Amino acid sequence: MHKEKILVLDFGSQYTQLIARRVRENKVYSEIMPFNVSFAGIRKFAPKGIILSGGPSSIYDRKAPMPDMRVFELGVPVLGICYGMQIMAYCLGGKVDRALKREYGRAELLIDDTLDLFKGIGKKRRKYGSSLVSRPSSLSTVVWMSHGDRIENSPPGFERLAHTGNSPVAAMADRKRNFFALQFHPEVVHTEKGEKILKNFLSICKCKPRWTMKSFIETSTSEIRETVKESGVVCAISGGVDSAVVAVLMNMAVGKQLTCIFVDNGVLRTGEAMKVEQTLKRHFHMDIKCIDASKRFLKKLEGIIDPEAKRKIIGNEFIRIFEEEAKKLKGVKFLAQGTLYPDVIESVSFKGPSAVIKSHHNVGGLLADMKLKLVEPLRELFKDEVRVLGRELDMPEEIINRHPFPGPGLAIRIIGEVTEQRCDILRKADAIVIEEIKRSGLYNEIWQAFAVLLPIKTVGVMGDERTYENVVAVRAVKSLDGMTADWARLPYEILETVSNRIINEVRGVNRVVFDISSKPPGTIEWE
Ligand code: XMP
Repeated sequence: MHKEKILVLDFGSQYTQLIARRVRENKVYSEIMPFNVSFAGIRKFAPKGIILSGGPSSIYDRKAPMPDMRVFELGVPVLGICYGMQIMAYCLGGKVDRALKREYGRAELLIDDTLDLFKGIGKKRRKYGSSLVSRPSSLSTVVWMSHGDRIENSPPGFERLAHTGNSPVAAMADRKRNFFALQFHPEVVHTEKGEKILKNFLSICKCKPRWTMKSFIETSTSEIRETVKESGVVCAISGGVDSAVVAVLMNMAVGKQLTCIFVDNGVLRTGEAMKVEQTLKRHFHMDIKCIDASKRFLKKLEGIIDPEAKRKIIGNEFIRIFEEEAKKLKGVKFLAQGTLYPDVIESVSFKGPSAVIKSHHNVGGLLADMKLKLVEPLRELFKDEVRVLGRELDMPEEIINRHPFPGPGLAIRIIGEVTEQRCDILRKADAIVIEEIKRSGLYNEIWQAFAVLLPIKTVGVMGDERTYENVVAVRAVKSLDGMTADWARLPYEILETVSNRIINEVRGVNRVVFDISSKPPGTIEWE
């Protein structure tokens, strides 16, 4: 287990995940828990420091979220950020008021004290006479603000570390108890020295940068061995980076007991099955069982138009096949799968499970009655960390950098009924999109690019003939984690080549359109 850990208590900020990531980027392990997690839970986690996140509430709201006061008695450093600062001030006897002017965006922070949290931060801002004066109050840095309330009086024991034109106390500290608070967001990139400020806090917590992917591999393989003991394990391979990384990690830990299963559900991209099989077999000499169930899936999808119905059918059928296969193997007690940290925190968020926009199919959730126990070695990692882990495991870049591909595959990119013929059309169009984006050198800058087959036909003219054929939409988005996304500004030349090639090379398509919706309000996939 990790020894030096930081706990982030979530008060609902859209940046909470970023705080945890920034801490981890400093090679210190951190986890997020809802603000109202039990105190016993906090003690058990044994953090070396606690960060109170921001949040949308005002401490004047009737239902303003409050931390358990005992977090201030644990004897570990605490850092409050934005709402976390205000709630800290409120709990410890300071005075919080509504700000005269709400402060959003860029602000100049004037630093009054550079002893610890602001150590090494701030540019000299004014010239006094002919020489530069290095009094701390002459130091400033750019920060990102987003608040309505502000601290009027710090609580007893606190001193001011920094201020802005609009916030008399923009940072404060009680050094006896090691409590610190910031009105601004050090976790966002717009705060110039945010990373350094968080790093300074980690030093205050006496956390050394020890959490590396190398150490992760060591701890997680030994944990896997302890959990699995002599039993057999099956690992579901999907073609995506997460399941491939899980497979390689499991292979390292309990190779002889592992069987990887790859199910071809008939709605995969061109060459998908082959690529994964080749990588795992050739590169890692792993045993992988490939099951062609495409006919079975397509039969079940006949006549189905509703997106959620498609997702459920594919999820359920997948489980059924998996069950059948697992039964054929002896002594299998565990199922390894690639659940990531965002899936885990989403389900523990204090806001409760977020509204189901799409039911992302999650093998584990559906396998409860299969009696297989889950091994989820990536459940502490973010997607970009999985990629770093993959590299550390010496996996080929081609697998590590692959764009995400949804479990229900092309079925949710064929709007309307899924048939073998429509799958073929989409596969060909999709392969062209990917090929051209790779050729342009933009593949790794794009989160995801793909083609969508629409359920409408339009009139065109080819040669001197009238055509009445399908429309393909091209989607390319930039994103950090898939939670929000913006459409990629692909150069016209690439769009032109993609469009020409699809219309010329894919029979059954006579029109190509480009999707320029962001998420929100759109989603990345069309269904
Ligand atoms: P949306 O469409 O919700 O997608 O904006 C966000 C990200 O999740 C992927 N996605 C899925 N992944 N099973 C998966 O494993 C699913 O059912 C699923 N649905 C969407 C999507 O490709 C994007 O990267």
